[in-house]
Amino acid sequence: MIEEIKKLISQTKEELKKGEDAAKLRIKYLGRKGRLADLSSLIKNLPVAERPIVGQVLNSVKLELDKLLTPKTELSPKQAVIDPTLPAMSLAVGHLHLITQAISKIENIFARLGFVRRSYPEVEWDWYAFESLNMPSGHPARDEWETFFVDEKKGQKGEVVLTPHTSSGQVREMEKGSLPIRMINIAKCYRRQIDVSHTPMFHQFEGLVVDKGINIGHLKYVLEYFAHSYFGVKRQIRLRPFHFKFTEPSFEIDVTCGVCGAKGCRLCKAGWLELGGAGMVHPNVLRAGKIDPEYTGLAFGWGVERVLSMSSGLKLPDIRSLYENDIKFLEQF
Ligand code: DAH
Repeated sequence: MIEEIKKLISQTKEELKKGEDAAKLRIKYLGRKGRLADLSSLIKNLPVAERPIVGQVLNSVKLELDKLLTPKTELSPKQAVIDPTLPAMSLAVGHLHLITQAISKIENIFARLGFVRRSYPEVEWDWYAFESLNMPSGHPARDEWETFFVDEKKGQKGEVVLTPHTSSGQVREMEKGSLPIRMINIAKCYRRQIDVSHTPMFHQFEGLVVDKGINIGHLKYVLEYFAHSYFGVKRQIRLRPFHFKFTEPSFEIDVTCGVCGAKGCRLCKAGWLELGGAGMVHPNVLRAGKIDPEYTGLAFGWGVERVLSMSSGLKLPDIRSLYENDIKFLEQF
């Protein structure tokens, strides 16, 4: 009888091979009135001593048949179906960082006015960062630039500092002796500051024009051209008298708020946002750069992060998120 029971396995296999339907075979072999049931009903006729042995064989054959006749849920590679109508997996494509995008936009706008991009050292002599800009050592105006000093021996040009502003490129550009000047210096700057609107490292862009007959009209035109190109023609600028040691007269430039359209809101309060400084180059600075007194100049220096955060539609509650490298933030731009 054991032989007969074991045969069921090879029979089932054969029938499956022939293409018999597994569900039908299941009924035939494992069903209530199936072959296995028939055979197990015969156990009671066997001598008592044989019954448990035959019972065991019956059970293991039952398990084996069950395995053979269970439909396989996974498709084998041969059977796998390719559905060409399914959407393809999208490729992850990176992009330039927000700041890099802003820098190239700024560079392109000024290039249209003939400004040439320059870079000057990030680790700078005191002379270029302060002294030559009409801020002698010990002058209280220096306090504004919360400077990082570098542990390096003083040289002929004073102490070594991490440049606190791009204005340090002004006299370097003048020293080249090639006039007229139309430069845009975009670079990293460093100051001892950190909060929601400040980072110790940030970017500025410094414009400098030196030529014969340069006046405030030119300054206003350049700044307005930039504001309209960067923020859109609906935004207006205004010049507010201010004081910088390296320009005379000096101004702070405001732009109308992009959130409320200059009506006044929580961000801007009275409709205007401060962009940055500008002015006519101070005669002492032109002298430090050995520029002929026939020439006059205009200059301006603004923060890239600041300009970026004021562009229409972009609300950055914390400027530090620009440098946290959080992919969820960066992916949005
Ligand atoms: N260097 C100044 C700062 O970091 C900004 C600035 C103001 C630059 C007036 C200029 C200027 O060229 O004319 O705050």
